[in-house]
Amino acid sequence: MKVVVSIGGSVLAPDLGSERVSEHAAVIEALADEGCSVGAVVGGGGVAREYIGTARDLGANEIQLDQIGIDVTRLNARLLIAALGGDAVPAPAEDYEEAGEAMRRGDICVMGGVTPAQTTDAVSAALAEYVNADLLVYATSVPGVFSADPNETDDAQQYAQLSAGELVDVIADLDMNAGSSAPVDLLAAKIIERSGVRTVVLDGTDPSRIAAAVRYGDHEGTDVVPEGAGDEPTYWAEG
Ligand code: UTP
Repeated sequence: MKVVVSIGGSVLAPDLGSERVSEHAAVIEALADEGCSVGAVVGGGGVAREYIGTARDLGANEIQLDQIGIDVTRLNARLLIAALGGDAVPAPAEDYEEAGEAMRRGDICVMGGVTPAQTTDAVSAALAEYVNADLLVYATSVPGVFSADPNETDDAQQYAQLSAGELVDVIADLDMNAGSSAPVDLLAAKIIERSGVRTVVLDGTDPSRIAAAVRYGDHEGTDVVPEGAGDEPTYWAEG
């Protein structure tokens, strides 16, 4: 099977500890060893936000800030590449064609951001669409998709399953509430809807949860099921 794993910067590198990066790399390597074609997209996390905040204070414009964010996502991607060793691309892929080519060659593809005015949430969905992935997994620092920001609202409910259209509606509502942060952004949700890729949003701080979701569809996050999809993909039934 072909999978794209989106690893938030706050999940992979909340600080510069090598152990966490190694654990994520080990899961990706194990999946690749089992015959899974893997594309990993890495976010910038708190480090990107710190750089962006400092550059904003210095008067940088929004595109310059995004460019700094992209650079940090690529630095984090390089950490994952360092941990993956020879099975991975030597440097973060900078566009989807490069990424797709690496996956066709059988390499583990790793990339960060691509272009200003978006986040790696959208990059992950676009890569999944480009390579026609069977599954897109968002390894985030929250348990799944909620009806409201659980840090702001006591009765926020976690969704076990949503259609892609419902995901777009939920994220659009969250976006309108100032202060709410969604685990997946609106552009990503729209690409997921357009592409029809099966998606899982889960807490990826323990990377073994990513492995269980990819191998068996087992997770405690949110399933985003494309319109008209059958009950379960065959790659899980085979597992
Ligand atoms: P992230 O995808 O890491 O944003 O990109 P995030 O929402 O903070 O995600 P986490 O915390 O890692 O989960 C960091 C910044 O890099 C720029 C944006 O400014 C974004 O906020 N960026 C990233 C781009 O402009 N384009 C991209 O393709 C990716």
